[in-house]
Formats: sequence, C-alpha cells, structure tokens
Amino acid sequence: MLQHSVLRICHILLLAMCIFASEDFDWTKNKIGSFQYGTFASGFSWGAGSSAYQTEGAWDKDGKGKSIWDVFSHKRGKIHLNDTGDSSCEGYYKIKDDIALMKDMKLNHYLFSISWPRILPSGVKTDYINEKGIEHYDNLINMLLENKMTPIVTLYHWDLPQVLEEKYGGWQNASMINFFNDFANLCFERFGNRVKYWITFNNPWSVAVEGYETGEHAPGLKMRGTGAYNAAHNIIKAHAKVWHTYDAQWRNKQKGMVGISLSADWGEPVDVNNQRDIEAAERYVQFYLGWFATPLFHGDYPQIMKDYIGRKSAQQGLSSSRLPTFSPHEKSYVRGTCDFLGISHFTTRYITQKNFPSNRGNNYFTDRDLAELVDPQWPDPGSEWLYSVPWGFRRLLSFVKTQYGDPIIYVTGNGVSEKMMCTELCDDWRMQYLRDYINEMLKAVKDGVNVKGYTTWSLLDKFEWDEGYSERFGLYYVDFDSKNKPRYPKASVQYYKRIISSNGFPNQREIESWKRKALETCTSSNQLLAADPLISHMEMVTEIVVPTVCTLCILLSAVFLMFLLRTRI
Ligand SMILES: *[C@@H]1O[C@H](CO)[C@@H](O)[C@H](O)[C@H]1NC(C)=O
Ligand SMILES: *[C@@H]1O[C@H](CO)[C@@H](O)[C@H](O)[C@H]1NC(C)=O
Repeated sequence: MLQHSVLRICHILLLAMCIFASEDFDWTKNKIGSFQYGTFASGFSWGAGSSAYQTEGAWDKDGKGKSIWDVFSHKRGKIHLNDTGDSSCEGYYKIKDDIALMKDMKLNHYLFSISWPRILPSGVKTDYINEKGIEHYDNLINMLLENKMTPIVTLYHWDLPQVLEEKYGGWQNASMINFFNDFANLCFERFGNRVKYWITFNNPWSVAVEGYETGEHAPGLKMRGTGAYNAAHNIIKAHAKVWHTYDAQWRNKQKGMVGISLSADWGEPVDVNNQRDIEAAERYVQFYLGWFATPLFHGDYPQIMKDYIGRKSAQQGLSSSRLPTFSPHEKSYVRGTCDFLGISHFTTRYITQKNFPSNRGNNYFTDRDLAELVDPQWPDPGSEWLYSVPWGFRRLLSFVKTQYGDPIIYVTGNGVSEKMMCTELCDDWRMQYLRDYINEMLKAVKDGVNVKGYTTWSLLDKFEWDEGYSERFGLYYVDFDSKNKPRYPKASVQYYKRIISSNGFPNQREIESWKRKALETCTSSNQLLAADPLISHMEMVTEIVVPTVCTLCILLSAVFLMFLLRTRI
C-alpha cells in the first residue's frame, strides 16, 4: 500500500517534470555552429531502409491480395508517367542480392515493411492466411540474422488491403483498428521470436493528409477538412491497440519494443524576434509531429490544434470541431504507448503567420494559419520539396527531447533524392547531405538527445509514390529498364560505409579523404553503367551470332577438308 502511494507520488512528480520539460524548448536560440568531430556511443545502430510497395514488385504473385497502391497506381493519370510498382526493384526475388549489398556496407540493421495484403489477401485474419507471404518474410528475417543484421520491421507502410478500403472506407472507419490489430498480432506470433523492433505505422501524417485530404496518394480521396483528422484518429487508436496487444501478450516472452515512425519537417520562425512567427512555427510542428506524438506521449491532441480547429469549425457554423476527441478512457489508453519513437526527417521550412478566412471552408492546411517559406540559398538537388537544411535536424531532435520526456529515438528515415532519369553515380550532393545531417545528429546527441540508431533512406532507388521512378533516393542505383533490375553503387555507398566503420567523424584529415576515395569508385562504376546497355546488346547478338558463326565454321572446315583430300588424290 505504502509502496503503491510512493509510486504514485513518483509518477506525479515525473509527470510534473515532463510538463515542465515540455516548456523547455527555446525557439529563439538556434546555435548552428561549425562541423563537430567525434563519434557516437558504441552500439549505435547504422542502417538503411525500404518499404514493401516501393521495392518488392511481385504485386500479384504467390497469392498476394491487392493493396490500395496497386489499384491507385493502375489508374491512369495518378502517377508520374503512369508508372506502377508492379515490378519495381523485384526485391521480392532478390533478397539474397540485397542482403549482400547491406552486408558489404556493414549495416547493423535493415528497416523494411511487411505488406499486409501479401500475408492477409483480404486484410482479414479470419478469412485466409497466405503462408507463401509468411514464408517470404521468414526468409528475409532469417537471412538478415544469419548475416548479423537486426531487422526493424514496419507493419504499415501505406499498402492497405484494397478490400478494406472498398468495404469500409479504409482509415475513415474505426473498424480498421481491429483488423490492423489482428494483422499485427499475427506478425508478432509468426516473426516475434526473431524480430525485436516493431514500428506500427510509417509516416501516418502522409497516410492521413495525402491519402484522405489532398488525394495525391492512395486511396486518393479528397475529404477536405475532415478526411485527414478522422484517418489520423483511427490510426492513433490502432497504434495504441497494437502496443497494448504486444504489451499484454508478447512482451514477456519476446522482449521486444513497439514504436511508431513519425515524419516531420522542421519549422523555423522567419523572425525569431517576432512572437507571432514563433507561434506560427510551433503550430507548424504541432500540426505535423505533435498531432500524433502528443496523444501517444501525453494522451491528447496538442492544445493548439484543438483551439485552432475548434474555432475554425465554429466559424464555419459546425456544431462540433472537425478534430475528433478522445474520451477520458481513450486518453489513458493511448498515452504512453511508444517504447521508442521513430523519426523520419528530410527538410525544413521557414514559417510565418498568415490568416486564412473561414468563409471559403477550411482544410488541414488552412486550419494552421501560417505560410511556409524557403531560403533560395538552400540546396535542392532532388525532389521539389527537399531542401538541404542540416541544422533543422538538430532543432527537431532537441524539440522531441523536450516535448516528449526524452524518449528513445531511432532515426527511421533521412536522405536525399536526385532528379529525373539521372545516371549519375558520383552523387556528391548526397555525400554532402549525409555528412551534414549526420553531423547535426551527432551535435544533438552531444546535447543529450537519446538517439540510438540512424537509418538512411533508402537502400535502393525505388518507386517513389506519385512521383513514379522520377526521383531516386537510393544509395544504390537501380536500372529499371533492364529486366533483371541490376543495382549499381553510387559514391555515397562508400561514403556511408566510412561513416559506419568510424562510427561517426573521427578527425578532419580522415574525413577529407573520404569523399575523394568515394569519388574514385564511382567513376569506374559509371563506366560500367554506361557500358551496360552495350553489354546486354552484345549478349543478345551473341545468342544469334555464335551458333550461326559456329555452324558456318564447321561447314567451311568440312568444305576445306574435302578440298584438301580431293587435291591429295
Ligand atoms: C497517362 O494517362 C493519362 C490518362 O489516360 C494520359 O492522358 C497521359 O498521356 C498518360 N501519360 C503517359 C506519359 O503515358
Ligand atoms: C464503417 O463500416 C461499416 C460496415 O461497412 C459501416 O456500416 C459504417 O458506416 C462505416 N463507418 C464509416 C464512418 O464509414
């Protein structure tokens, strides 16, 4: 009894500390500073990532059901050049090759996702379990472990079974919570003896906003003002349910961790001396990261979201807020359901206050009352939205530490793309990006942020959602025009390898040589790639020519022999 009340007091104290800590973030002080030499703690985990729909291909093979992405990408006009992920990198068939690439880089972990409809074709566990799908992931997991790499497994990287979208309206419908929980439970049952790091959702922001609000992503619905908030509400509850399932049924036996992977760009006030800009920047981050992280760490949506969406809904004449609410029971159910927090981060924006009048209806974007700006000096080598702003990474990590009570963090995605059908293997800008972003992460760790691992995005070039194959994020170049989808290392493979083997940035002299050495390897791979179409052409030619030439030779020698024999006689 006494013990109990002591615990209670400790708990309250801890909570108070958390609340105190969450006011700690200082918006006005952005210490950028110069490059920091140093290494990460031993045991820091280095990895690379991928996702099922973007790399596997084999979209209709071995009993796999359709996902919303199969259906969406098959509709014309949705994806750049009407491309699809039907075959993509053929990763489904190339586990062995890809693991060899990872092993060569000496990765500590590989982050990948399980395709829900590959295992449960209709999405529903009680309908049918596709053992062939289970077998595929068994092989992948076993082979990773044999090669001493830790699997980090995402359960939902956007490929909802199509049946669930058609029958129930997908994430708009609360029935997804139980279907997803059944799927997750099956994964814990079948793979949990070997998988110790589980990520329920990858980037739910994108699922909610791009899937159900703007319609740029599958399932392509444009339910402006409500679609994203409703989807997010069900996703948050689904995450919590899966965490509770693991906690109650599997944790004792399997001793793993369950987290979520949230994406967030950093928002920096345009003018740090202007309180309205600071508040706008905070809204930007709260509507992005806080939307999901605050319920999971503190039990409810950020106050700022409740205020803004509530006020705008009232101005529209609605009787209740477009942002759903958690009941008291739900609040305590969702709070504290992250054993670690996955963070994916790619870029930063400057933010300023901007009012959007409510008379023309509102949506997720206008609810925030802000404008995003970029500095034209920021490099933007690849995707239109992706400006390289390394210091934003440290700011974000520091914000996460102060807001959510210093959680264990795994960086689950960080990297940069290049534009169009570029065959440039000497990816200078990617080496620069990795160097500077990882260095800012090192600074954050020295500031006391609890980052345990880093995952670069991504291992291979792959299907980039609505951008098709036009943006390449891979450390490895994939030749999508060749049937066999060969992989070629970009220079950044060598560069990342050196960061891994040094566990950071040991000293200036060494680092300066890294880039030069990496560039030496890529010029030779470049020649290889340039020669590749020629080589495959030559193979085709030899297939016809060699037998013909041989037959001709034999015939000629026969004639010559006969001629010789004749003259002898
Ligand atoms: C993609 O499909 C749309 C609709 O059928 C068509 O208008 C467009 O030309 C197609 N684009 C390409 C590159 O084939
Ligand atoms: C959820 O699905 C059920 C069953 O199809 C349906 O009756 C209900 O209206 C759906 N709810 C929403 C919010 O779409």
